[in-house]
Amino acid sequence: MPNILLAIESSCDDTSASIISDAKVLSNVVSTQEIHSKYGGVIPEVASRNHEANIVPTVIAALAIAKIKKEQLTAIAITRGPGLMGSLMVGLCYVKGLAQSLEIPIIEVNHMQAHIMAHFAEEPHPPFPFLCLTVSGGHTQIVKVDGPNKMELLGETIDDAAGEAFDKSGKLLGLGYPAGPLIDKLAKEGEAIYPFPIPKIPGLNFSFSGMKTAIRYFLRDQIAKDPDFIQKNLNDICCSIQTAIVHILIAKIKRAAREHNINHIAIAGGVSANSYLRSELLKNAEKHRWTAYIPKFEYCTDNAAMIGISGFYKLLENDFAKMDIAPSPRLKI
Ligand code: KG4
Ligand code: ZN
Repeated sequence: MPNILLAIESSCDDTSASIISDAKVLSNVVSTQEIHSKYGGVIPEVASRNHEANIVPTVIAALAIAKIKKEQLTAIAITRGPGLMGSLMVGLCYVKGLAQSLEIPIIEVNHMQAHIMAHFAEEPHPPFPFLCLTVSGGHTQIVKVDGPNKMELLGETIDDAAGEAFDKSGKLLGLGYPAGPLIDKLAKEGEAIYPFPIPKIPGLNFSFSGMKTAIRYFLRDQIAKDPDFIQKNLNDICCSIQTAIVHILIAKIKRAAREHNINHIAIAGGVSANSYLRSELLKNAEKHRWTAYIPKFEYCTDNAAMIGISGFYKLLENDFAKMDIAPSPRLKI
């Protein structure tokens, strides 16, 4: 009999539920909270309230699509952190109630490990050890993955995350939130003619806040000369920003591969949906003889299937959570 898991993700602004049969994804439902786009970023209190409204219908939809009854569940996997306290709390409280009523265990999952484990939702899986560049709205990390539950953080951002660099640059350009996908789209019609600075950060750490400041001053100076500068050159500005961010990411993953002598390279997290990052990774894979692993789009941004896959590998080790676990907004990998 396969293990049937319900997985729930509620760490930021997406409420997601998924049903996993062993490591096979039967359903993966994501309720996106559009409301934050008008504020230019996620409002934590609004996110928690929307999770409360969305969580039950999202779980019902995930069960219905998978044709699974809740009485068939073996366990429930839930994101414990990192993320927003209120958002995590809604998911965890709901799961505690459901697990108690069904008399089944809870499995706690680390959101950043789950982004990496999204690669195990489909064949071919990367072999261990592999390196993963995890790039999202809140994190930028290079992780050495020695096993499903054995991961080592090699480097991370010292200030803004890569997704934040996209989103904050987009805000300066008057684009909506999240700006990453829009910059990606506009950049396709532009050229990288504006050179934004690539910071010199030692080791495998990253920094993106200097770039944001450089863009701010660049736009201020250009707008002083021509008030319509942004409108006239939007595609080229987007392409220049995207090129700078992706070059920072690729330079560090190249260094990590060299220093650790590992040639299986994966990307994960919302920014791994970026078309230029994906094509640059493939280009470098050919040049440096790496095998590159790129997730399907639906497994890049936040989703519960990745929580279920990560939870399944914990279930194999009988790694269940106690009923009194609390959310952990700054949970480390
Ligand atoms: O992993 P994710 O869904 O949520 C967090 O855990 O943060 O990542 C969201 C981030 C946002 O910053 C968004 O702008 C970025 O991923 N993103 C992209 C693209 N799609 C999503 N950034 C660049 N290009 C994209 N195509
Ligand atoms: Zn995420």
